[in-house]
Amino acid sequence: MMLFRVLAVALSVGPVAWAQTAPRHVKQERLWATLEKLSEFGRPPGAGFEGGVTRLGFSDADLSAREYVTGLMRDAGLEVRVDPAGNIFGRREGADPSLPVLLFGSHIDSVPGGGNFDGDVGTLGAIEVVRALNDHGVRTRHPLEVVIWTHEEGSTFGHGLFGSSAASGQVKAEVLARRDAQGTTLADWLRRYGQDPARLAEARIPRGRVAAYLELHIEQGPVLDESRAQIGVVQGIVGINDWLCTATGFANHAGTTPMDRRQDALAAASRAVLAVREEVRRETGRAVGTVGNMKVSPGGTNVVPGSAEFPVELRDLNVEIIESMWRRIEQRFAAIGREENAAFDCQLIFSARPALTDTALRDVIRDAARTAGFSTMDLPSGAGHDAQQVSYFAPVGMIFVPSRDGISHSPREYSSPAAVASGAEVLYRALLALDARP
Ligand code: HGY
Ligand code: MN
Ligand code: MN
Repeated sequence: MMLFRVLAVALSVGPVAWAQTAPRHVKQERLWATLEKLSEFGRPPGAGFEGGVTRLGFSDADLSAREYVTGLMRDAGLEVRVDPAGNIFGRREGADPSLPVLLFGSHIDSVPGGGNFDGDVGTLGAIEVVRALNDHGVRTRHPLEVVIWTHEEGSTFGHGLFGSSAASGQVKAEVLARRDAQGTTLADWLRRYGQDPARLAEARIPRGRVAAYLELHIEQGPVLDESRAQIGVVQGIVGINDWLCTATGFANHAGTTPMDRRQDALAAASRAVLAVREEVRRETGRAVGTVGNMKVSPGGTNVVPGSAEFPVELRDLNVEIIESMWRRIEQRFAAIGREENAAFDCQLIFSARPALTDTALRDVIRDAARTAGFSTMDLPSGAGHDAQQVSYFAPVGMIFVPSRDGISHSPREYSSPAAVASGAEVLYRALLALDARP
């Protein structure tokens, strides 16, 4: 009887325990060293690796970081090119040049006061996979391309997923005229990145050129960390809509304007922020809504605010829910405007549709993780990703690794060296599995 019990326990553990001895192809320390080096570009003065980073897309810090990662690509033997949207591609020829590309990568720009893992793990993990292929003398059938997408966070010009949106033909020309806080246009920044903004449309990647796209990324939420699953197999990515709203009242003297005769734009906007939260909370699913900042003018402590500008971001896996929430929010804004004697004007500045990942790629990722001895879990992504724009022209798959305490877009964002290397190992194996398929 005892023998059976021992056997049952061993079998119940399943492949994870035995396969822990599965070979590793990527090198954890080599990968981690590049993460630490990349974190130096945009690091707050006097801080260390754990101090987070501000490396906004289309900034000097981003430009320097691009030099660094481009050097890593070249050192790994990749042939580097930059497209008119500033996306960086590193190509590794395959045995059969007639085959479509296997594309994999992520982004290196951050949010203000962000972490050193969002985008960085997928970008540097992709380059580490290429080094591992070189180490093992592997020559794939398909050509491989590592990609670093520009301005994924949208922090500078309000248009997130910019590079991958250009690749999927989703960028409207007006975006080029948008100005950053210093008054520099996106077009000027593209010129600084060595590109001609008039040729932005040439960044478009036609359907058929890419056989599949894989993106390794931190989860940025608590699900894997709390479930102890080692690898996340992403089912789908939320849709995101961003509006830029302005509440307009009337600037006046704070001392001589009676309370019942004010057109206080900040008071109106503050009520609008709470209305957004109330309307989103009425949803029963995973919808989220955020107002991330506000610019008030004229800004004097003794002046009734005349205007307040603020973004409204809504997310959900279902576009209809985003649209119905927005309709309710617009009605709330109109009511608040009447009561506060203020006017609201909102313009849609960015929209990315929800995207499902390819089911065959989910199977490839899940199998790659299991043969490497990692436990897996399927889950949706509450964060937006370039993969959702790539899905316009190729099947996409995403590999998640756990974020400690689910924290992200914060200096406290952290994934362990083992988690980062596990994700890269799964990316390595999934790519080879895809390469072997007819
Ligand atoms: O905002 C996001 O969801 C992503 O991190 N850019
Ligand atoms: Mn990201
Ligand atoms: Mn992000």
